[in-house]
Amino acid sequence: MRRIELKTDAQLAWMARAGVITSRALDAAVAAVAPGKTTAELDAAFREVIAENGATSNFLGYYDYPAMICASVNDEVVHGIPGERVLQDGDMISIDGGAVVTDPATGKTWNGDSARTAMVGQASAERRELSEITRAAMWHGIAAAASAKKVGEIGVAIEDFVRSETGEKYGIIEDFVGHGIGTQMHMAPDVLNYAARDLGPRIKKGMALAIEPMLVTGSIETHVLDDDWTIKTNDGGDACQWEHSVAFHSEGIWVLTAEDGGASELSKLGVTVKPIPA
Ligand code: MF3
Ligand code: CO
Repeated sequence: MRRIELKTDAQLAWMARAGVITSRALDAAVAAVAPGKTTAELDAAFREVIAENGATSNFLGYYDYPAMICASVNDEVVHGIPGERVLQDGDMISIDGGAVVTDPATGKTWNGDSARTAMVGQASAERRELSEITRAAMWHGIAAAASAKKVGEIGVAIEDFVRSETGEKYGIIEDFVGHGIGTQMHMAPDVLNYAARDLGPRIKKGMALAIEPMLVTGSIETHVLDDDWTIKTNDGGDACQWEHSVAFHSEGIWVLTAEDGGASELSKLGVTVKPIPA
């Protein structure tokens, strides 16, 4: 098995810097969502915040990926490439992006990775519910992580939440999973968004994990388009993703890609976050 990178609190504090920039860049991309806008315009809004903060993008150039965000509309699950597609009233769009900062003292690069879903104009109640359930599923996964012994308990919590709240209405994608994050965007371990028999490695202080459930209204089968990136549902059902990067530091958890560390959302679930000690 690939080794899991364990970070010091000081290193996790660098990740929090990348995380906040990621969050602010996503704020800008989400704010740019409107009928008539192209997905390239959302990427431009994201880029501006990355540049203003002296950060770089981990997506741009990743296996030659050509943009800073993934913009996945309606039946696109993940990895949609921003371009000339014009957003229509009633569309839903998942926007995924990450910032990288470099610690000049060590030369190490620290990554953020986060995704949100937004409605374009007036989307249907069905689409809004899909996003709300996916978002809540992510927060339940993060809340479980706070006291979990093993990484796989996150997926168990996500699946338990989705099933208890909405029965079999939604599918949980299995073709793509969350991941460790740190000096690189994608690192060990895999973080499943669904329950599996093997609960995987133990959660240890110093870990950072990207938790990123993807829910669909139909079958969980997917295919990749001719652009070699965009993933769509086979049956054309809608898909949605939310993602945060989460740190396990010496005193608890902190959601790196939320400005408040996840405090407001997690307090509703009875979980207290702790700032990363300076
Ligand atoms: N951020 C995606 C993930 O959550 C990965 C995007 S890779 C890119 O893991 F090349 F499309 F940028
Ligand atoms: Co990710």
